[in-house]
Formats: sequence, C-alpha cells, structure tokens
Amino acid sequence: MTAFLRATLLLVAAVAVAPANAEIMADGGVDWDAAYAKATAAVGKLSQQDKVNIVSGVGWNKGPCVGNTSPISSINYPQLCLQDGPLGIRYGTGNTAFTPGIQAASTWDRALMSQRGQFMGEEAKGCGVHVLLGPVGGPLGKHANGGRNWEGFGPDPYLTGVAMAETIQGMQGAGVQACAKHFILNEQELNRETISSSVDDRTMHELYLWPFADAVKAGVASVMCSYNKVNGTWACENKNILNNLLKDELGFRGYVMSDWNAQHTTSSATSGMDMTMPGSDYSGKTILWGPQLVSAVNNGQVAKTRLDDMATRVLAAWYLVGQDKGYPGINIKASVQSTHKDNVRAVARDGIVLLQNTGDILPLSKPKKLAIVGSAAVVNPKGMNSCVDQGCNNGALGMGWGSGTSSYPYFVAPYDALKTRAAADGTTISLSSSDATNSVASTVQGADAAIVFITADSGEGYITVERVAGDRNDLNPWHDGNALVAAVAAANPNTIVVVHSVGPIILENILKNTGVKAVVWAGLPSQESGNALVDVLYGLVSPSGKLPYTIAKSDADYGTTVSRGDDNFAEGLYIDYRHFDQKNIEPRFPFGFGLSYTNFTYGDIKVTSTATSGAASGAVGPGGKADLFENVATVTISVTNSGSVAGAEVPQLYLTLPSSSPAAPPKQLRGFDKLKLAPGAAGTVTFNLRRKDLSYWDVSKGWVVPSGTFTVNVGASSRDLRLKGSFDVA
Ligand code: BGC
Repeated sequence: MTAFLRATLLLVAAVAVAPANAEIMADGGVDWDAAYAKATAAVGKLSQQDKVNIVSGVGWNKGPCVGNTSPISSINYPQLCLQDGPLGIRYGTGNTAFTPGIQAASTWDRALMSQRGQFMGEEAKGCGVHVLLGPVGGPLGKHANGGRNWEGFGPDPYLTGVAMAETIQGMQGAGVQACAKHFILNEQELNRETISSSVDDRTMHELYLWPFADAVKAGVASVMCSYNKVNGTWACENKNILNNLLKDELGFRGYVMSDWNAQHTTSSATSGMDMTMPGSDYSGKTILWGPQLVSAVNNGQVAKTRLDDMATRVLAAWYLVGQDKGYPGINIKASVQSTHKDNVRAVARDGIVLLQNTGDILPLSKPKKLAIVGSAAVVNPKGMNSCVDQGCNNGALGMGWGSGTSSYPYFVAPYDALKTRAAADGTTISLSSSDATNSVASTVQGADAAIVFITADSGEGYITVERVAGDRNDLNPWHDGNALVAAVAAANPNTIVVVHSVGPIILENILKNTGVKAVVWAGLPSQESGNALVDVLYGLVSPSGKLPYTIAKSDADYGTTVSRGDDNFAEGLYIDYRHFDQKNIEPRFPFGFGLSYTNFTYGDIKVTSTATSGAASGAVGPGGKADLFENVATVTISVTNSGSVAGAEVPQLYLTLPSSSPAAPPKQLRGFDKLKLAPGAAGTVTFNLRRKDLSYWDVSKGWVVPSGTFTVNVGASSRDLRLKGSFDVA
C-alpha cells in the first residue's frame, strides 16, 4: 500500500464512535505496586483468549484509532484506543496542534514542557484516547539531517531526558498513558525497516538509552520498539534491548508495543514484546499474534506465564493512570482545545532563539514602513491542512510531516500577526509572498526593515515532499532561501531573517550579506507562529530560547550523516557538541546559544560534593539502580539581569570527568535552569548532580563514578562558559 493510501484510509477510519466526555479527572494514577495488584487480580479472571485479545491489535484500519484492541467486558476493560502522536491528536478536528518536541526543547523551560504534556494528556483523555503515542526519545538526532528529529528533543540525552520526563508526568498526570518511542537506535528514515544499527554498550547507555531511562523513571506506561535492527536483531524481537536493558536494568514495569508492523515473528513474545500493533500488516493479511499467539501458547512455544505477564503489564499501565474509573468514550474529533493555545504560544515564543542582532536592530519600535518577504510568511494558499499529515512545505511552516503531526485548528501566519501589529502602530506594510528574487527589491526598498522568511522541512519516510524522502538531502534552506535573502539584503540594509526549520541550516551564505542585521531562529511554532514571533520582534518579551542542537558552518562538520547501508555508529559518544568539542571544530552557533534583549552576569559559584567513586549499587527501581538518582554534588551560582529590560536566562552546567575516567567527551550537559529576571534583579540557581550524572558506563561494572577532580563549567551556552569550579572524588 502506498503511504498516501495508508494515510487516507486512516482518515476514513478516524470516525467518532462515542460522544465527547470532556470530564478531566484530577486524581488519576496509582503507583506500580497498586496497579500490579489490580492487574494481577484481573488477569486471574481472564480466559486465555481474553489475554491474547488484550495484547493483540484488532488489525489495520479496523477501529476508530490508529491502534485498537478488543474490549473485555468481564473486567470492564474497554476497546483500547492508541493514537498518534507526540504533539497532539492526529486526525482530530477539535484539538490543539501543540508545538513539536524540538520547540519545547528549545525553551529549556521545564514548566512549559510539563504543561504541554498535561494539556496534550487532557485533550487525549477528552477524545477517549487511552494511549497517546509520544513523546519521542529516539531518534535522538545523531544525524543533523535525520527526518524525524523534530518530533523529539534534540541530540543531547540529558536535555531530551528531562523533556521526556516532564512530558510523561504531565500527560499521565492528566490520565492518559504515554508511550516513549522509538526504542531504539532508529536514527534515520532511509531504510528504517531494514537497517541494522550497531552500537557499543557504552554509547548505548550514555547516549541512546539515557532518555528512555528518564522516561521509565517518570513512570512511563508504554514503550514502542522501533522498525530497525539493533546489533543485527529486529528491535521488536531483541531480547537484549527489551528484556535485559529495558525491563531488567531499567526496571520498566509497563508494556512494550511494536511500532506499526515492526513485528516479524510470533515468538517476539519470548523476546520481551508485549503488544502487537496494529495487529496485522497493512493489507490485513499477515497476522502474527491473535490466533497465532493462541497456537504458540498451546504448543508451548510461548509460555503461559509469559502471556500472563504481557496481559498484566498492559492492564497495570491502564490502572496506573486511573483509566478504570469513568474514562470518556472514544471520539477523536471531540472539541478539547480549552485555552491550551496559551501553551502553544508560550512554547513557540520562548523557544525562539535570537542568533544575531547587529546594532540592536531588534526589538522593532513602531517602524514607519515594514516589508515582509517569502512564501513562508503567509498561510499555505491551498489551505492550512491541505496536505495529508502536513506532507508539503507550502506557506508558513509550523511542523514537519508524518504520523507525528496534527491538523491545525487555525494558523496565525507571521504576516497575519505582523499586519495586525502594524495597523495598531500605524506602520505601512508591504508584502511579497513568493520566493521570487526578481521583483523583491521594489517591495523592500525604503522600508525601515525587511523581514524575510525561509524554511527547511523534513518528516517521516512514507511521504516524499519536493524530492525529500523523509531525511533531509542537505542542510540548506528550501526554495532557494539563500538567493531570496541575498536579494532582499542587497536592497535593504536592515534585513531580518526569520527561520522556520526542523533542524540546523547552514547559514554561511546568509550571514555573508552585510544587509542581514538579525537572524531569528523561530523553529517550529505550530498554530501560534505569528503571535509568538510578534511577541519577540517587538520586545513584548525578550527572546529566551537556546539552541537544542549545534548550527555548524558546513554539513560535513557534524561528522555523521544518514547512512546508506547498516550503521555501526562509529562516531560513538561524539555527536553534536560532543563531536565539535572533541575535534575542536568551531561551530557557527554552539549548542545552548541564544541572545537576549538584556544582559546577564554570572557569579558566586559554590560547589560541594559527597560523592564517592565506584560502581552504582542498590536495588533496581524505575530507571535503574536506586543510588543512581541520589544527589551527590550541588553547584550554586547567581545570575543577575544587568541590562535594562526583563528577560529570562538559561544557565547551563557542563561537567568534565576526571582524567582517571576512560576517554570521554570534553564536557557534557548535566544541569540547566531557566530564570525570569526583572532588570537589576538577581536569582540563585541550584544544580543537583545525581550519581548517574557523574558516571560513565563500564561494560562489566555498569555505571561507575571515577575518582579524581571533576570540572564544572556553568555558562550561557556550551561555548560561553562563565564560571568554573571543581570537586574531588576519592
Ligand atoms: C511511526 C510511529 C507511529 C505509528 C502509528 C509508524 O509509522 O513510526 O511513530 O506511532 O506509525 O501511526
């Protein structure tokens, strides 16, 4: 089946089957032990067929959601609805299109991340969705050109782990099961269903498993195993990653579901997979569980106790978030938006990264004449939702494409919001809403400032857009954005470039133009695009986003690119800034970078530690051995807003391991905070370092804290380190 046919069938399938019930239960969850007690009692009452039904999808396109299982009336268990995705309800008509994960990461704001998760959870519950298929911790984003990176939180495992945990707690607190996906090493779209990703054990732990450990620690209900092979074995059939890593080492008590059609054999049950989705292949013919699982259990191929465990895990997750108590019926198209757009606007706004602001051209102050340029300044002329799963790049860009998208309930394009603001200020505004360079001079000449919009898009590999088959072909702007910027900047010396992009763009050609005074990295803002942008361009708030990835001077500087064949992850620990630091490559804009309209002064670093060297120990709890999560060092600093306007700063803590450690990245993010400060105000930041934050992974000993001197750097980006301290571990 073609991707478009598949997507169209999904649209047809997404019919309402029950009235909306917008009741939001505030209490919700119980702990895993209590959930297991209930689940074990329930499983005791079930027939073998019931248990098989709980773990088998009903088949592709056979229910109201992208994934569905059968109800079990004897225990009041409903038809389970699993629906994409990581930024809200796919195929809904009454929901909010939240900002993509990468924009949430760009805010570095835990409260906004958590609220985003909570609101997504409330909307999913309002639609009767039991499992919302997100957040995304893989791809982590080791390839700057990976097609689905924007669904997740960027290539630093610490930042991604924090964002995963905040999102999951927000979602599950609202009563919906989260699904941490895609597990694991699914770093590209090209050949995603055949490629084998081979990684060494240390890199697995220190990079790719890290965010999933945080997800488990946060109590995630479910995990989705990915399409690819891991070290030669399909992820969904891989005992090592599912049983050894996820369930034994990380103490995961929820269930593992397959990515859609990522199961290959009936015996994946014995490898740790607990639920098959969607339950058949896309033609509806191949079914690997259901009746096949019944036979496999009957002939001893799959142990009865394993089937009990699978069903118990699924039911425990359902009890964990309180879905046994009056959960709404399924209606994907329910009206559930409430005031959630406020979170979209806040994340879109506070995720904007100001990269350049020569001569303080920003913020704008009642310009007499403003010129707006680019097809990306206006809403898609064919309609904001005219492309299935957002599979096109026409007009303003708010998200990438694929299953991790949502329809827009409305879309405030940059031009819409700028026009409103201009009217209020008495500013004359002119628009060239195309990317043609020949006539643009007449639009921008004589304007106090010219704002030019460029984009780069990517998405999931079942859709190809303008010859981009998921992964990006290069890191250039689309639609010849470099030429457009050059034409505008040649005709107007006060050119402001606004970038909407799924990931890094090489900006060298753009920065060469002396007319380019400002570069505003507006990321992927979803439905509140224009409002968020106006807030920042006019200084209603100071920009406070920080890059969640490095912007290099050339594609090659990243050191990795989408692989044509199997990928042996030869770069190991050295991705994104870890690689730039290691190889001493100067980035154009470093990881963690972002300007403000005010200035911040850092001071008063104090470092204390009670850490002892050696391997982690203690009982395994959610996320791993208990002592990994104990605070063993504390760093405090002060930050003062030394400028003249209010603003927010993100102090970042980078740790360097002592020389006794095996070779490690020169520095790694191990803490951050976001402080909102009035002019002249000061705040204190406390960074708590957990045992795990001080550890490296040793193949035989596990997590080990090395002895010696740890160096702490705190700064405003990974290359703007302002304070230095250290502590010794014996
Ligand atoms: C994607 C998943 C998604 C699933 C269901 C798959 O192709 O990889 O992220 O949840 O489809 O739509």
